[in-house]
Amino acid sequence: MTKPWSATVFTILPEAFPGPLGLSLSGKALEQGVWALETIDIRDFAQDKHRSVDDAPAGGGPGMVMRADVLGPAVDAALEKSPDAPLIALTPRGKPLTQARVRALSQGPGVSLLCGRFEGLDERVLEARDIEQVSIGDYVLAGGEVAACVLIEACVRLLPGVIGDADSLAQESFEQGLLEYPQYTRPRQWEGREIPEVLLSGDHKKIAEWRREQAEKITRERRPDLWDKHNKR
Ligand code: 6GU
Repeated sequence: MTKPWSATVFTILPEAFPGPLGLSLSGKALEQGVWALETIDIRDFAQDKHRSVDDAPAGGGPGMVMRADVLGPAVDAALEKSPDAPLIALTPRGKPLTQARVRALSQGPGVSLLCGRFEGLDERVLEARDIEQVSIGDYVLAGGEVAACVLIEACVRLLPGVIGDADSLAQESFEQGLLEYPQYTRPRQWEGREIPEVLLSGDHKKIAEWRREQAEKITRERRPDLWDKHNKR
């Protein structure tokens, strides 16, 4: 078999993996060799006998910063191990992750991920190795590990054979530039609430129309930013 899509995660918490990635569809695909996961302990690159990876921020202030003399060798190990995989540092200061970026990553050889903990990573390493920085949203996590799981799961579910139904991928939120329409299933009546009549009509043209209207309404109300972009396409 050819080399599967591979994620290599640099972290001080290797026990955080595979976490939820070891369950359900992604877990099955991992077992079947559809994709591969390796964690590398950043602490293995520490230079001193206490294996310290962080230190106080230059200029003062709260928290701790990951040391350049630890991150540097870790990053170089990542670039050497997977020269063709993009190397991404997960940080709330990065560019927002998008479905388009996820799709591109899933179509490549894999990804190397650098998880920050503490207040951040020494900027010189990011600059010297020209490392792409990615965030998963406008809120702050305690570290990049959960964000790495998010990025990996988003990629893995797009790999051929992980999700059986290709149609469900094409329909879903963001792929069309709109949020997805609402879904219903049995029972037909629940706590006095009915499934919208049109969905039971068997009229596929009407159903498609209703779903599009709903998708547009929900996007307009919840995500005016996406709605504007959608209308400029
Ligand atoms: Cl990638 N890391 C951390 N620590 N917080 C985040 C994030 C990443 N994305 C959003 N918040």
